[in-house]
Amino acid sequence: MTDNRVTFGSKLGVILATVGCAVGLGNIWRFPYMVGVNGGAAFLLVYIICILLLGIPVMITEFFIGRHSRKNAAGAFKKMAPGTKWSFIGYNGVLGAFLILGFYSVVAGWTLEYLVQGLDGSLAGKTADEFKMDFEQFSSGIVRPIGWTAAFIALTHLIIISGVKAGIERASKIMMPLLFLILVVLCLRSVTLPDAGEGLVFLFKPDFSKITSSVVLSAMGQAFFSLSIGMGCLITYSSYFKKETKLQATALQVTVLDTLVAVLAGVMIFPAVFSFGIAPTAGPELVFITLPNVFEQLPFARIWSTGFFLLLALAALTSTISLHEVSTAYVHEEYNLSRQKAAWFVSGGVLILGVLSSLSFGVLKEFTIGGLNFFDALDYLTAKIMLPLGGMLICIFVGTRVDRKVLKAELTNEGTIPFHFFNTYAFFMKYIAPFAIGLIFLNELGLINKLSRLF
Ligand code: PHE
Repeated sequence: MTDNRVTFGSKLGVILATVGCAVGLGNIWRFPYMVGVNGGAAFLLVYIICILLLGIPVMITEFFIGRHSRKNAAGAFKKMAPGTKWSFIGYNGVLGAFLILGFYSVVAGWTLEYLVQGLDGSLAGKTADEFKMDFEQFSSGIVRPIGWTAAFIALTHLIIISGVKAGIERASKIMMPLLFLILVVLCLRSVTLPDAGEGLVFLFKPDFSKITSSVVLSAMGQAFFSLSIGMGCLITYSSYFKKETKLQATALQVTVLDTLVAVLAGVMIFPAVFSFGIAPTAGPELVFITLPNVFEQLPFARIWSTGFFLLLALAALTSTISLHEVSTAYVHEEYNLSRQKAAWFVSGGVLILGVLSSLSFGVLKEFTIGGLNFFDALDYLTAKIMLPLGGMLICIFVGTRVDRKVLKAELTNEGTIPFHFFNTYAFFMKYIAPFAIGLIFLNELGLINKLSRLF
């Protein structure tokens, strides 16, 4: 073990940084629109089952890999299984993080544009159609969306070059409590609107007939995306955990908080949407078109709009730093470059992807990969393929290549803390998770359909 490796300073720092990595646009932008287009409470139910059965075991397993190897995501597999093909998992993770950052920073950039518009009052007095038109005009433009994307990458870069403790940990300690506070205030505002109950029924009262295989697939993809599992982030962050950090307890706390934020985001959004008689099925534009429209019709509109977009920007920033860190740690450690230089390489590469993703809403609209524009192609490739594949392989790797005793020793901090459900965890990690992910995968690729036609 390389004992001079930096670690997070405190227990709170570990939790807030890791929750910061997990909580992001995935919770506040992607989750509500997924609930909206996938039938409401039924989706939430399947999502929670995915979190419990797949999310928690995969997260604990990633924490094991990170802290045991104390390496970046790719270095971890090289160290634990030298000279084998297993390092593919690490490269898949590093590449996944890099690609996610490429499209994520575009949406993150939009939050800054809307934050400024909320602040200076330019969202006020628009009609529903104007909100839609203005969003489309803005996102399909060139200078402003690219400028905001670059600004967001620059902000991320600044935190990353300040280091793990002074940058990531400190930023998370300030931003996460603020995020919770804003979220709770906005929830209170939303549930006290007239007819808020309808939105809560949509979110919490499942209609089981809505559960289809595509809902299950989307719920799993969402669970992976929201918990940041299946790629390098949690491996990288847990490589900065101290040897006293309790891995299972941390995984549980992070999962509970991440799910809580997603559910609260639903509580904030659906009552407001229903109260104003707007369809919840708007898709990705839900939080950029529908919500500002709702907020701007309330008294003290500026406070609600500004608060909401600040919430989104903070959530996005704590996630972009974790995505950036995966690639930076990899370049820094595997190519022996200084952290600063490594960060510059990553930021430069991400900026190129960001520009292409941003332009895919406008001038590059016609440029498609498999029928998807560049932005959607990156989202599809990462959330629906690379993350589940990474999660599955991580479980197979630890399930088949790692001695149970080594696994147990790491997860119990060398036997000093109990892990009551170790056997249950190990069973889920080794058999259930890879099998379930594999099945959902085959289904996605249409193979199960083809097979069932054969019989
Ligand atoms: N979990 C983050 C979110 O919910 C996104 C993310 C995915 C971050 C994968 C890191 C790795 O927004």
